[in-house]
Amino acid sequence: VIDDPHGFMPPDADSADADGISTDLRMSPGETALAEARALRDAGLPAAAERRLRDALAADPAQAEVHAELAELLEELGHAAKAAEHFARAAALAPGRSDWLRGKVRTLALARRLEDAVAACRELLAVRPDSAPAHREAARLLLGLGSIGEAVGHLREALFLDPLDVDTAVRLGEALLAAGDAVAAAEAVQPALRRDPDRPEALVAMARCWIALDEPAKADRLLGHALLIDVDDRAGAGPLLERLAAVPADGLSQTYVRALFDGYADRFEEHLTGRLQYRGPQVLREMVDRAGGCRVPACVLDVGCGTGLAGLAFRDLASRLHGADLSPRMVAKAAARGIYDRVEVAEFHDALAADPGAWDLVVAADVLVYLGDLGPVLAAVAGGLAPGGLFAATLEAWDGDGYRLGPARRYAHGETHVRQHAAAAGLETVLIESASVRTERGAPVPGLAVILRRPQA
Ligand SMILES: C[S@@+](CC[C@H](N)C(=O)[O-])C[C@H]1O[C@@H](n2cnc3c(N)ncnc32)[C@H](O)[C@@H]1O
Repeated sequence: VIDDPHGFMPPDADSADADGISTDLRMSPGETALAEARALRDAGLPAAAERRLRDALAADPAQAEVHAELAELLEELGHAAKAAEHFARAAALAPGRSDWLRGKVRTLALARRLEDAVAACRELLAVRPDSAPAHREAARLLLGLGSIGEAVGHLREALFLDPLDVDTAVRLGEALLAAGDAVAAAEAVQPALRRDPDRPEALVAMARCWIALDEPAKADRLLGHALLIDVDDRAGAGPLLERLAAVPADGLSQTYVRALFDGYADRFEEHLTGRLQYRGPQVLREMVDRAGGCRVPACVLDVGCGTGLAGLAFRDLASRLHGADLSPRMVAKAAARGIYDRVEVAEFHDALAADPGAWDLVVAADVLVYLGDLGPVLAAVAGGLAPGGLFAATLEAWDGDGYRLGPARRYAHGETHVRQHAAAAGLETVLIESASVRTERGAPVPGLAVILRRPQA
């Protein structure tokens, strides 16, 4: 016997068959069946491929690869339970193959045999205890069976193995909330949210924690933030906000609006002008020109100035351009633009009361949506305008008489409400038109744009 541990020796002449082809190069019956079945499958003949594999197994049932191939084919054909049987046979014949165990778990779950799928997951974890996806899958299945405690254990293990996985942190938080442990849930979600502050699912999960911890204002802020970045609301912030009765009767709190825009300042312009196709300042500029313009050069107050988009649209008319906004971080952005003579952190009414009768033009682009009752708002505007001065503002439109707070925490106003309060404040309605200045979920949001004037003396 020649010892040839490295296989360098040429094949024995006896192993060549009559055609001179080495038996080492010939395929085994199982390999032939696999090759033919794959060719049939590729040719769009799955039934023939299945027959070929079944014939091969009838001849020799102990062929792991053939069972696995048949399992994949059956899974593709939608026969999950039968596929699971063959994945099980393949995995039993080749105990180290975690991919076949994963197939077994997957197809059992697809066949809704959840308990068997959990058992298969345990088999998989015995082979691959360090697999975060296997722990996550075990948790998912256990949650489906209502075994929250055990699911939490697997989610913790998955997060330990993959600490940067925000989805698992969110799922762990949700499972802990379902188990009634809101503090532990908050501890699970908080680090993930710190790492990825714009992930809507994490914002909503954290908001749920705050609601459970009786901190509605904190929840409210996170949900508002989620809605700003997830306009399609896939994470479900809107319905939660509606349930959360945290809105004071007199409107959105300044704390809420300030925190909302402080958190939004870095992404504001890209999001608003890009994704939401915002064009409030352009619409207002065009209407001011059409209304005959204001006195030029003008003293202009851009109230709720944000990052300064409206300031840009009116700069050329202004001898003095001031900006005011509730949010310090928005104000910092506006100041950095370098177009304002002064920008300050101030609330709408305070900004107008600071310089009575001073302004030839007051612009409020997409700001009145954060203010409810226009009575005090338009009274403040009238107090700030110089005689003959104009007020230019966009609003979201509502068909009703008064105004209402929508699920996205923005007010919509009825045209009658605007006209009535303009008149009550002594302002003439110069123009009031339907104008959509942004989209939501890809559709234009119905809006109004108005030009009001303080009469000359
Ligand atoms: C959607 S942004 C619009 C910003 C800017 N006018 C524009 O057209 O790009 C709304 C801005 O109004 C500000 N805001 C909301 N309520 C306010 C209030 N009561 N007083 C002052 N600013 C307010 C917010 O902080 C935010 O910067």
